[in-house]
Amino acid sequence: MSRFKSDSLGLITDLRRRYGGIVRVKLGPYVVHQLTDPGAIKHVLQDNPDNYRRGRFYQGFSLFMGRGMLTTDGAEWKKRKQLGQPFFQRARVEQAAPIITGCVEDLVERWAKPAANGEVVDVVDDLMWLSMGVLSRTLFGVDLRERAEELTPAVRFSLKAMIITGKVEQMLPRWVPTRYQRTLKRHQATLNAAMDDVVARHLAGDGEPGSLVTALLAATEPDTGEPWDARAIRAELKTHFMAGHETTGCGLAWTLHAIAADPGVRAKLESELDSVLGGDTPAVEHLPRLPYLRQLVEESLRLHPPIWAFPRGAVEDDEIGGYHIPAGSSLLIPPYAAHRDPDTWDSPEEFRPERFCPAHANPARYSYLPFGGGARRCIGHHLATLEIQLTVAMLTQRYRFTVPQGTGIHPVGLVSLRPAGGLPLRIERATKA
Ligand code: HEM
Repeated sequence: MSRFKSDSLGLITDLRRRYGGIVRVKLGPYVVHQLTDPGAIKHVLQDNPDNYRRGRFYQGFSLFMGRGMLTTDGAEWKKRKQLGQPFFQRARVEQAAPIITGCVEDLVERWAKPAANGEVVDVVDDLMWLSMGVLSRTLFGVDLRERAEELTPAVRFSLKAMIITGKVEQMLPRWVPTRYQRTLKRHQATLNAAMDDVVARHLAGDGEPGSLVTALLAATEPDTGEPWDARAIRAELKTHFMAGHETTGCGLAWTLHAIAADPGVRAKLESELDSVLGGDTPAVEHLPRLPYLRQLVEESLRLHPPIWAFPRGAVEDDEIGGYHIPAGSSLLIPPYAAHRDPDTWDSPEEFRPERFCPAHANPARYSYLPFGGGARRCIGHHLATLEIQLTVAMLTQRYRFTVPQGTGIHPVGLVSLRPAGGLPLRIERATKA
C-alpha cells in the first residue's frame, strides 16, 4: 500500500513485468487482482460483467460525483445510461464541432501574448479550462468557464480525495471536524453550487432546450413515474462534468507534449494539416483525410491513458485464467500497464503513431482500452476523441510548442494521469501563422 500511494504507476508496471497478466496483491487490508491479460479483461468487462460491480474503490468517487452513471450498478445505472445515451451518439456529438473549435479559438487568443514573446506556459490548467468550456457548453448549454477559478481547485482536490489509500484522514468518520473534512466539504459545496446553478438557469428558461439538463429535468422514475429528485439530477451533472472535462484535458496535455517533444512527429503533423486544411479551421469532414492526426491521438492515449486504471469488486467466487477470484475481492484493470505490455507492443515506451496505421495489425481486443470496454465503456469517447483531434489540429496550425531544455516530464497517477508538477511548454507562433 505504501508503494501504491507513492508510486502507483511504477508498482502496476512492475507487477505485470514480474508476475504476468493476472496478479493477486494485498493492498493494505484489501485483496486486489491486477489484470492486464486481454482474455482476463474481456472476461470481466464483457463475458461476465454481472459478477463485477463497481466495488469499494469506486466508493470514493461518490464523494464528488454522487450516485450517478459512473458509480452505480444494475437498474440505477441502466436508467442513467438510457437517458444519457442519445447525447453521446456520434452524429449528435459531431454537431458540437463548432462549439469545440469556438472554445479552441478562445484558447488561441489566451495564448497570443505568451506566444508573441515565446514564453513558457504551464499548459495544464489552460487545457482544463478549454475542456471545461467544451463539456459544459455541449452537454449543459451553459459555459462553466466563468466559474473556473473556484472549480479548478475543487477538481484538483477531488482527484486525490477520490482515491482510497487508507490514509487516516480518509478513514475517520465524516463528522469528525478535521481540517481535511472542512476542505473536502468546501470543495464539494463549490461543485454542488455550480451544478445547482446550471439547473436553476434551465428552470428560469435560460438554458438550452435540447441539452442533457433539460432531459434530466423531464425524466421520470421507471417504477413510480415521479420526476428525478434534485440530488439524482445533480449527481448526473457532476458525473459528466468530472468524468468528461478532466480526462479530456489530460489527454490533450499529453498529446501536446508528445508533439512538442519530437520534432519528427511535429513536422509530419504540420505537413498533413497544411496539405488538407491549408489555413482553414478543421471540421468533422476533414478528419477522414487526417489519418496521422488520428494515429497520433490513439498513440498518445496508449502511452498516457488519462484513466490509468479502473477498479471492480467481485460479487461471487469466479475463476479467471485458471485462478480463483474470491467473492468480495477487488480487481484493478490498468490500461497504463496493459498498454506497455511487450507481448503486445513493440518497444512499448516509444511514441510511434505509425503503429496505429491500417497497414499494421490491430492490437488484440482488450489490449488497447483507453476508454474501458463492454457495456460500461466510456460514454464520452466520441466527444473526447473529436475534441482532442480538433484542438490539436488548431493549436498546431497556430502555435509551435517545445519542451524547455532541462525539463523532465513525469506522469503521476491521481484519478487521472497527470504530468507531475504541470506541463511547462514554450509557445511560439507557428511560422506559417
Ligand atoms: C480522453 C478522455 C476520456 C477518457 C480516457 C475516459 C475514460 C473512461 C474509462 C476508462 C471509463 C470506464 C471506467 C470503468 O469501466 O470503470 C469511462 C467511463 C465513463 N466516462 Fe469517460 N473518458 C473520457 C472522456 C469522457 C467524456 C468526455 C465524458 C462525458 C462527457 C465521459 C463520461 C464517462 C462516463 C459517464 C462513464 C461511465 C460510463 C458507464 O459506467 O456506463 N468520459 N471513461
